[in-house]
Amino acid sequence: MPLVSMNEFLPRAKANKFAVGQFNMNNLEFAQAIMEAAEELKSPFIYGVSEGALKYMGIEFTVAIAEAAAKKSGLPIALHLDHGSSFEVAMKCIRAGFSSVMFDGSHHSFEENIRLTKEVVKAARAMGVSVEGELGTIGGVEDDLSVDEADASLAKPEEAIRFYEETGVDCLAIAVGTAHGMYAGEPNIRFDIIEKVASAIPIPVVLHGGSGVPDDMIFKSIAAGVGKINVNTENQVACTEAIREALNKDGKIYDPRKYLTPARKAMVEVVKSKILLFGSSNQA
Ligand code: 13P
Repeated sequence: MPLVSMNEFLPRAKANKFAVGQFNMNNLEFAQAIMEAAEELKSPFIYGVSEGALKYMGIEFTVAIAEAAAKKSGLPIALHLDHGSSFEVAMKCIRAGFSSVMFDGSHHSFEENIRLTKEVVKAARAMGVSVEGELGTIGGVEDDLSVDEADASLAKPEEAIRFYEETGVDCLAIAVGTAHGMYAGEPNIRFDIIEKVASAIPIPVVLHGGSGVPDDMIFKSIAAGVGKINVNTENQVACTEAIREALNKDGKIYDPRKYLTPARKAMVEVVKSKILLFGSSNQA
């Protein structure tokens, strides 16, 4: 199966009240672990690739790995640019074979964000590629993107609704209190904002910063209209802890496969637990 646009599964996710996971791909082992978990649970999924990860892996390897996973598993998989910062980056990804892009214009003024997002939607739609927009600023650190919690601003429902109507994005990330990275305490998620926005527009809301969000909050978010949830840090932590444990156990290891195999296994378990939590198993 070729890579698909998120429209292959997001409308169904919203209608049937489940969420599709965006699991970030940071290297080959992440890609393999995510696919293995999804294959076992027959779930659609999204490979999220940040600009930093793109730089690390190279665009050709990134696309080739995702295409190999789609071909091998037969699952509906979207390859999605995460927090794309410009029209040019989005187009570069689409030309290289990405089936979906996020344009994050949240650091611009509201009107400018609308104008820039519209341009990306127009070009992407012509290529059958789905687009995610962002409104409000999501706190925390992801790659080179760092937003102080104090500067993170929640999305305003009226603006989010107008943003959808004017841009025609396929899903919309709105800042509702989650943050990238692990939480020191518990996040304070504004379910009322999710509900207000999701009930007024036909597309699903996207929840960024999915790592460490308690299960009951995930259920409440999905019930309120979230149809896509992003997870990265939990996989990074599981991967690194497994490697650390393997190296601590045997200081003489030098074959990377000896520590990357347990790392990959640990990530399979994380992704499986998220797929079950999000309710996307048997939806492929
Ligand atoms: P976490 O790293 O907190 O899971 O967030 C991932 C994310 O939102 C990617 O855009």
